[in-house]
Amino acid sequence: MTQLRIYATQAAGIAADRASAVASTPKPLFSTSNPALISAELKTRGIKFQRWPSQPGLEQGANQEQILLAYQSLIRSVQDSDGYGTVDVMRVGGDQPSSEPLRQTFLREHQHAEDEVRFFVEGRGLFSLHINGEVLQLICEANDWIAIPAETRHWFDMGANPSYCVIRFFKKSGGWAASFTDDPIASHYPGLA
Ligand SMILES: [Fe+2]
Repeated sequence: MTQLRIYATQAAGIAADRASAVASTPKPLFSTSNPALISAELKTRGIKFQRWPSQPGLEQGANQEQILLAYQSLIRSVQDSDGYGTVDVMRVGGDQPSSEPLRQTFLREHQHAEDEVRFFVEGRGLFSLHINGEVLQLICEANDWIAIPAETRHWFDMGANPSYCVIRFFKKSGGWAASFTDDPIASHYPGLA
């Protein structure tokens, strides 16, 4: 189920945890699975979130062409309003080789020069957004669309057994790369269970 958890970063508390042998798990100040509340909370932090309707004719494991065709009107509406000229489909897990190196890469806090915009066609993943003294953790499931602005500090957990398929939206082709912050903050927050 889609879920948003909001934490205060509490830098002093984390520093104390680092100094102790036992690190405590931070407790969320707020948690909800209500899509309207999730959208409203994220909107106040500059993050766009929508739930898109399922496409009944689209089968699990569909290829890129079938997925882009099924969602073409919704894709077009996003492209028209936000200017994402390029879309593609990325599938992770299933019959592919181990995704663990990819998982570990994006578990580190990073930023991009371009917005990170994803629609979950299948599966799930956990975005953690580090914004103005808060960490917002959003478990995205199928039918969730999220737009994270460029330069937002964040990390992503695809889980120990990744299995997901997303439509990706880009303003520039070939311009999407991660810039790592070297802040170890991600290790203090829960991953995708
Ligand atoms: Fe990212």
